[in-house]
Amino acid sequence: MNHYYITGTSKGIGKALAELLLEKGETVTGISRSCSIEHHNYTHHSIDLSDLEAVKNFEFQEAVNAEKIALVNNAGTLGEVSYVGNSSDDDIINAFNINLTAVAVLTNKFIKAYITYTAEKIILNITSGAAHHIYDGWSAYCTTKAGMDMFTRVIDKEQQLTKSNIKIMAVAPGIIETQMQEQIRNADESCFSAKHDFIEYHQQGMLKPVSQSARQLFDVLKNPSKYPDAVFDLRDLA
Ligand SMILES: NC(=O)c1ccc[n+]([C@@H]2O[C@H](COP(=O)([O-])OP(=O)(O)OC[C@H]3O[C@@H](n4cnc5c(N)ncnc54)[C@H](OP(=O)(O)O)[C@@H]3O)[C@@H](O)[C@H]2O)c1
Repeated sequence: MNHYYITGTSKGIGKALAELLLEKGETVTGISRSCSIEHHNYTHHSIDLSDLEAVKNFEFQEAVNAEKIALVNNAGTLGEVSYVGNSSDDDIINAFNINLTAVAVLTNKFIKAYITYTAEKIILNITSGAAHHIYDGWSAYCTTKAGMDMFTRVIDKEQQLTKSNIKIMAVAPGIIETQMQEQIRNADESCFSAKHDFIEYHQQGMLKPVSQSARQLFDVLKNPSKYPDAVFDLRDLA
């Protein structure tokens, strides 16, 4: 038996990945505020990841018979697209909590819960090209994704030094047709100068469907040894 914990399973990439895993007979536990998957091998936890007390109270279940256990930190928010100085304090706090603090706390809990298990253990963080690219209006998003990349690199080093069998990766999926991309195309140009680039990517059919993204992430989870780097962009491997 393989068990996958995935955040952000109500829509977009997380939902497509969860559904693909379920289709392949795997067991999935999903976390998001809303639930849109019904399946006998699917368990949902309705948690708002900006609520750090709720994140702290989440518990990973015993998985004694599991051959593989994975955590996919996929939930994310672009946050309010605005220039710093005009942003809402709460929106900044929420974006950092969802994109970075919740990821760190869940990862800590996952390693603590399963470190002694002999099962194969994988942590897959969904990062973004925005971790290395400066987009005005996206300060919280770019910063938290850059933080996620460094968090991943540090844990990768820790796991190598302790010779543990936990594999951690941060994977940028490319540009995927989801609600997040709709939000980007609808952002106010006065605080997002790259808006027209994203409208063009969409018009030129450059966005990947979620099903294709899910298949690529499925391969990363199934064959992690094919992906030696701790942080990588799927577009660089194409
Ligand atoms: N789409 C792209 O082009 C692209 C590119 C690079 C990286 N990514 C990354 O890929 C990941 C998935 O993005 P997506 O495009 O699939 O986004 P999406 O369609 O907007 O879906 C986001 C998911 O995250 C969950 N989520 C958001 N806020 C949450 C909260 N406060 N608590 C719990 N769950 C929350 C949502 O569930 P609820 O609303 O039900 O809570 C939803 O399931 C994100 O980390 C994103 O940064 C996306």
